[in-house]
Amino acid sequence: MCGIVGYIGNREKKEILINGLRELEYRGYDSAGIAVLKNNEIESFKATGKLTNLEEKTKEFTSIGYGIGIGHTRWATHGKPTEINAHPHAGSCSYVVHNGIIENYREIKKYLEEKGVIFLSQTDTEVIVHLFEDNLKTNCSTFAAFEKTVSELHGAFAVLLITAQEPDKIFFVKNSVPLIIAKNEENEIFFGSADAPLIGNATNAYYLEDGEYGFISQKELKLYNNRKEKLPKFKSLAQDKSYAQKDGFRFFMEKEIYEQSSVMTEALMGRVKENQILLDEIPDGFLNDINDIKICACGTSYHASLTAGYILERVAKIKTSVEIASEFRYKNPLLTKETLFVVVSQSGETADTLEALKIAKNAGLKTLSICNVDNSSIVRLANANILTRTGIEKGVASTKTFATQVAILWLFALFIAQHKKTIDQKTLQKEIDVVLSIPNVLKIENQTHEKIKRLSKRYLHGHGFFFIGRDIFYPLALEGALKLKEISYLHAEGYPAGEMKHGPIALVDSELFTIALLSKTTLFEKTKSNIEELSARDATILIISPEDFDIADDFVKTKYSDHQMREFFEMMVVTQLFALEVAIRLGNDVDMPRNLAKSVTVE
Ligand code: M6R
Repeated sequence: MCGIVGYIGNREKKEILINGLRELEYRGYDSAGIAVLKNNEIESFKATGKLTNLEEKTKEFTSIGYGIGIGHTRWATHGKPTEINAHPHAGSCSYVVHNGIIENYREIKKYLEEKGVIFLSQTDTEVIVHLFEDNLKTNCSTFAAFEKTVSELHGAFAVLLITAQEPDKIFFVKNSVPLIIAKNEENEIFFGSADAPLIGNATNAYYLEDGEYGFISQKELKLYNNRKEKLPKFKSLAQDKSYAQKDGFRFFMEKEIYEQSSVMTEALMGRVKENQILLDEIPDGFLNDINDIKICACGTSYHASLTAGYILERVAKIKTSVEIASEFRYKNPLLTKETLFVVVSQSGETADTLEALKIAKNAGLKTLSICNVDNSSIVRLANANILTRTGIEKGVASTKTFATQVAILWLFALFIAQHKKTIDQKTLQKEIDVVLSIPNVLKIENQTHEKIKRLSKRYLHGHGFFFIGRDIFYPLALEGALKLKEISYLHAEGYPAGEMKHGPIALVDSELFTIALLSKTTLFEKTKSNIEELSARDATILIISPEDFDIADDFVKTKYSDHQMREFFEMMVVTQLFALEVAIRLGNDVDMPRNLAKSVTVE
C-alpha cells in the first residue's frame, strides 16, 4: 500500500523524505518520488523500483535551509508501476501525493480535458493537482481553491499538496485513509501515513480524522471539517519503531487480520456503483463466446477459487471448474477456446500457477488473472487482470489476501451475471447492498477476539483438528485448517461436513477437535446433523454459528444475517483469530512459520 511523508523545516529535505519513505517500505511499493519547494522553486524526482534508485536520481540535489517537501511510495492500482505514474504528480506550479482512490476521477478528468488540460499519467491522482489549479483561476485564495477541490473529490484519500503560490505551506486532507501531522520542539513539521517515519523526528502527533483538511506552515496550522474550523489536539508520540510498523499489534498477521475491513473498502472502491458492478479491467467483448470457466491456483488462492466455483455457478449460471495448479500442469488437460481461464494469485509469481497460465495461453484460451501485484509475471502474461488492491502482506500465512480474492471473484460472478442477464435487477441490487456491507462485517469486536483468545488454551494438544462446513463454508473450512496448520504446526484438515461419515469419522474421539462452521443461511439442519454424528462419538466441538447449539463444548457466536457471504466473512475472521491465538500460545513465530516462504517460485 502507498506511503506518504511530508516535511517543513531547515534540514536536508531529501534525506528526511527518503528516510521517512524507508520507514514505510514494509507496506510494499513499486515506485517512489519526492518534490521539494525551496526559494519559490519546486524540484521533483521519481524512480521505479527500490528507494536506492530514487537516491541515485537525487544524488546531486541538495536542499539545506528552510523549505518544504512531500514524498510518496506507490503500490500500483490505477496504471502500471512506471515512472510517469509515480507520485508526486505535477500541475504547472503545484505537486500532489495521494493514498487511496478518487472514485470520480474519470468524470473530473473528462471535465478538465474538455478545458484543454493534458494528462501525462494513467493515475486517478493526477486529477487532484489539475483540478486544484483549475480552481485557483476562479477562487480568491489558494486555500479556497484547495477547499473547493477537496469538496469535489469522492472516494478515500489522504493528500498532501504543495504549490509555488504559497511556498511555506503544505495543504492536506484525510478521508478514510490514515494521515498524521507531527512536530517537535525545533518547530519542524512532519507528515506520515503511519507513525514509523515520525518516530525519532517528532515528539507530538495529531491523527487526522475523516473529513479534516487544512494547511500548515511553521507559523500556523488551520484545520477544518465541513468548512468549520477545528482545534487539533496533539498527543505525545510513541517511540518504538517496530511496534509502530505493526500499528501496535503483536504480529503482522494480526495487523493484517484487523486491516481487512479497510483493505476491503479499497478493493471494492469504484467497482460497485449504485446499481451495477463496474469492472473496467474486463475489455469489451472479453466474455463473448465464453461457455465455461476454469480457475487454477495454489494454497489459499485455491481456496478462494473453490469458493468462487459455488458463486459463479449459482449466480452467473456459468459452468465452472477449479483445479490445483500443480495438478493441472501435468494432466495433459483438454482445453477448448470457449473456456475462460482464470488464475488467482497473491504474488503473481507462484511457479505452478504461472505455468498453468502458460499452458492455457498456448492453447489459445482467453486468460484473466486475479492478482495483488501489478507487473508480476502472471499479470504481464494474462490477457486481462483484476488487481485485488490488498497492499503488501507480510505474514506468510495469507489472511487479507483471501478476503479480497473472494470479494473480487464474487464481484466477477455478479459482473458476468449482469452481462449474461442471469440476474434480475432486484436480486443484483440486494447483492450489491451485501457487497457494500462487507467492510463492516470485517470489523472485529473486542469481545469476540477476547473470547477466542481465552478458549484457544483448550486447543493446544490433541491428535488433530477437523474443520467442517458445507457449500461455500467447505472451502472456508479448508482455509481455516490451512491457517491453523501453517502457524501452529498442529495437524488440521478441512472436510465437507457431509463427508465425515464416509471415513474420517473413524478418527473421532475426545482428543479430536472439530471446528464446525454452522451457517444459518445455508444447509443449517444438514450441517447440524453432521455435527451431532461427531458429538455422539465424543468429539470435542467448537461451533462457530449465529445459532446456539447445546452440544458445543465451545461456541463463538456470529451475527444473524440473511446472506451467506456476510456469514462467510465473519466466520473467516473467527478462524483466522483462532489460528493466530493457538500459534501465539504455542510460542511460534506467527509471521515467519517454519518451512514456508511467502512466494513459491519453484515447483
Ligand atoms: O502468491 P499465491 O497466492 O499464488 O500463493 C499461493 C500459495 O503459495 C499461498 O496462498 C500459500 O498457501 C499461503 N502461505 C497461504 O497462507
